[in-house]
Amino acid sequence: MAGDVGSFQIAPARLRDLRAVARIQRLAFRPGLAYGMSALLVLWSAPHSTFLVARDDSGEAVIGCVIADRHQGNARIMNIATHPEHRRRGVGRALLRAVERKNRIGDVVLMAEEWNTGAQALYESEGFTRTGFARDYYGRGRHGIWMRKQRRPNTDTGARIYV
Ligand SMILES: CC(C)(COP(=O)(O)OP(=O)(O)OC[C@H]1O[C@@H](n2cnc3c(N)ncnc32)[C@H](O)[C@@H]1OP(=O)(O)O)[C@@H](O)C(=O)NCCC(=O)NCCS
Repeated sequence: MAGDVGSFQIAPARLRDLRAVARIQRLAFRPGLAYGMSALLVLWSAPHSTFLVARDDSGEAVIGCVIADRHQGNARIMNIATHPEHRRRGVGRALLRAVERKNRIGDVVLMAEEWNTGAQALYESEGFTRTGFARDYYGRGRHGIWMRKQRRPNTDTGARIYV
């Protein structure tokens, strides 16, 4: 178990969790963005991926998930979702922090849909800033916002400053 936060727990996803994760995907994302079982299986077995779930206090029911991989020396969050009945209880924040703990090297990067200001508020409160705009990334008229949490030393000043 990676850690306990209040009345839920964050832990690596088990193979038997994937069906529940697929259900959360369908509840959280529109068709086309939700990962199905076969994609989840590939992501779960990828060697450098971080695939975590939040479980309720019984330790069984999956109430959230996060999937990240390594990209250009950074951790890249590919997907994060909390079951609709368990939102605004700190699950998303705990999942983000668990990805950071598991990926100590490099920055953390992700993309949010432009309209998704709730998710962006979460990321900003965790220290992410906007770094780019990807026009039509999610389809025509559906733009993406790149966000990054900088954790590398800032070498521009010559000093080892961690931001
Ligand atoms: C985005 C998401 C993962 C957040 O999960 P969550 O478990 O509800 O998040 P948390 O409870 O940890 O939220 C922490 C803080 O983030 C901010 N926040 C989260 N959701 C928010 C929303 N809908 N509106 C405004 N602020 C929000 C708030 O500051 C919140 O703190 P508060 O509840 O004390 O005000 C969840 O809403 C979700 O699954 N959405 C659908 C899938 C999705 O959009 N994923 C992100 C793709 S980029």
